[in-house]
Amino acid sequence: MCGIVGVVGAEDALPILLQGLQRLEYRGYDSAGIALSGPEGLALSKAKGKVSMLAARQDLLPRALPCGIAHTRWATHGAPTDENAHPHTDCHGQIAVVHNGIVENYRELKGELMARGHRFVSDTDTEVIPHLLEDYGGATDLLTAARNTEARLQGAYAFLAVSGQQPDYVVAVRRASPLIIGRGDAANYIASDFTAFLDATRRAIVLENGDMAAVTPKTIRIWNEQGALVDRPEMTVDWDIRQAERGGYPHFMLKEILEQPEAWSDCLLERVQGERIQVEAMGLARAALAGWERIQIVAAGTAYHAGLVGKALIETLARIPVDVDVASEFRYRDPILLPNTLVLAVSQSGETADTLASLALAKQRGLATYAITNTVGSTVAREAGAVGYTYAGPEIAVASTKAYTTQILLLTALALALADARHRARTDLVAKLASLPALAEQWLAASEGIRLAAQSLTDQEQMFYIGRGIDYALAMEGQLKMKEISYIHAEAYPAGELKHGTLALITEGVPVVAIATQPRLMAKVQSNVAEVKARGARVYAVGAAALQESWGDDSLATIAAPDPLLAPALAALPLQLLAYWTASLRGEDIDKPRNLAKSVTVE
Ligand code: AGP
Repeated sequence: MCGIVGVVGAEDALPILLQGLQRLEYRGYDSAGIALSGPEGLALSKAKGKVSMLAARQDLLPRALPCGIAHTRWATHGAPTDENAHPHTDCHGQIAVVHNGIVENYRELKGELMARGHRFVSDTDTEVIPHLLEDYGGATDLLTAARNTEARLQGAYAFLAVSGQQPDYVVAVRRASPLIIGRGDAANYIASDFTAFLDATRRAIVLENGDMAAVTPKTIRIWNEQGALVDRPEMTVDWDIRQAERGGYPHFMLKEILEQPEAWSDCLLERVQGERIQVEAMGLARAALAGWERIQIVAAGTAYHAGLVGKALIETLARIPVDVDVASEFRYRDPILLPNTLVLAVSQSGETADTLASLALAKQRGLATYAITNTVGSTVAREAGAVGYTYAGPEIAVASTKAYTTQILLLTALALALADARHRARTDLVAKLASLPALAEQWLAASEGIRLAAQSLTDQEQMFYIGRGIDYALAMEGQLKMKEISYIHAEAYPAGELKHGTLALITEGVPVVAIATQPRLMAKVQSNVAEVKARGARVYAVGAAALQESWGDDSLATIAAPDPLLAPALAALPLQLLAYWTASLRGEDIDKPRNLAKSVTVE
C-alpha cells in the first residue's frame, strides 16, 4: 500500500522525509520519491526501486529546506517506473502532489485537462491532481485550489500538495484513505500512518473522512466535509516502532484481515457503477465477453480456492462451463483446450512459477488469456493478454487473506459481466455487490466471538471443514488457512462425501467447521451436521443469518449477505479469523509459517 509523509517547519526536511519513507517501507512499495519546497521553488527526486536508492543520491537535492512531501508507491494505475513514481507535478513544476488510493474518474479528467493543453508524463490516476490544482490557481493559493480540485475528484484517496511559491505550507486531503497529522514543537508532520513520524513526535491528530487540512510550522487548521473549521482531538501514541509498522497489531495477518473493508472498496470502486459492471476497468473489452464459450482457471493454493468460487459463480450466473486446475497439474497434463476458451490465471504475487507456466501453455495454444493479480507490473500481468488488478494493497503475511477475498470480488464482477453479455443480467446483484465493504466492516467490528471459539481449538490435532457447492470451495480455503499457520491437520470435504470414508475419523470432540451460506442446500448440510454430531463432533457453523437460530450453540458466525451468491467473501472472514486466533493462542510464528514462502517462484 502506498505511503505518504510530509513535513513543514523543519530545519532540514530531507533527512526527516527519508527516515519517514524508511519507516513506511514495511507497507510494501516499488518506487519512492521526494519533493522539497523552498524559496527557490520545488526540487524533486524519484525513482523505481528502494528508498535506499533515493538516499544514495540525496546530494542531488537541496538541504536545509523547511518543507517537503514524500511517497512510497505500490503500483495500481501504471507500472512501477520512474515516471509513475510520486510526487507528480503540474505542467510548470510549481505544484507537487503525493497520493494514496484511487481517483476513479481520472480518465475523464485527464481527457478534459489534455484538451485544455495540460501535458501528462505518467500513466497514473494521481497526475490529474496537480494539473487540476494548477488550473485552480494552486501555485499561489493551494488551499482554495485544493477545495476546487477535491470537488472534481471521485474515489477513495488521500493526498498532500505543496507549492514552490508557498514553501511553508502543506495541504492535506483525506477522502477514505487514512491521513494523520503529527504535532511537533517547531515542525508539523503529515503521514498515512504514525510510523512515519514516531521518531519526531508522538502527538497525533487523525483526520476524519472528508477532512482537509492546511499545515504550517505553527498551525494546523482542519475543515470537515461541509467546509466548517473543526477541532479534531489530539492523542498520544505510545506504540513502539515495530508495533506501529503493523498498525499496532501483533501480526500483519491480523492487520490484513481487518483491512479487508478498505481493500474491497478499492477493488470494487471503478468496477461497480450503479447497476452495471465496468468491464473496461477490469482490463477487459466488453465486446470480447460474448465470444468465450469455456473458461479455464489456473492458480495455486489460495488463489486456486478463489478460482473454485469463481467457477461456481460464473457457471451459475453466466452458464459458461468453467474448469479450475491447480497450476502445477495443469501444465503437465496435456489439457484439452477447445477454441474460444478464455484461460484465466489468478495469482496474488503474479510470480508463481506454475501459474506462469500454465499461462505460457495457454498462449502457445493460441487462446485468449486474462490475469487476476494483486501486483501491478508482475510477470503474470505482463504476460497475460489482459489483466484485472485486485487492488488489495501489499499482502505481507504469508497466509493470503485480503488478496483472496478481492480475487473473489473480481471473479464475482467477471461472472456478472459475462452474465450480462449473455442476456442474463443480474442488475440486482451488481448493486448489492457494492454493499459488501460496509457489511464486512460491520461484521469485523463484532467478531470477538471467533477469538473465544478459537480457545477450544488450541489443543486439537485434526479438524474437518465441510460444505456443499460454493461452501465446499470456502471449506477448502478455511482448512488451508488453519493448517498453514496453526499446524493443526485440517481437511475439507464436500459435506455429502464424509460418509464415504472420512466419517470413520469423526470421534468424540473432533472439531468440524460446517459452512452453510446457501439456503437451497441448507437442509442437506444440516443432515450432514447431524451425522457428525451423532459421532461426537464439535460443530462450528458459519451460516446464513436467516437460519441462525437453527444452528443454536453450534453457531460460530452468521453471514448477513445481501444475496447467497455474494456470501463467499463475507464467509471467508470468520474462517480467516478462526485460523488466526487459533495460531495466535498456540503461539505460532503467524506471519512467517515454517517451510512456506510468500511467493513461490520455483516449481
Ligand atoms: C496461501 O495462504 C498461500 N500463501 C499460498 O497458497 C498462495 O496462495 C499460493 O502460493 C499462490 O500464490 P499466488 O497467489 O501469489 O500465485
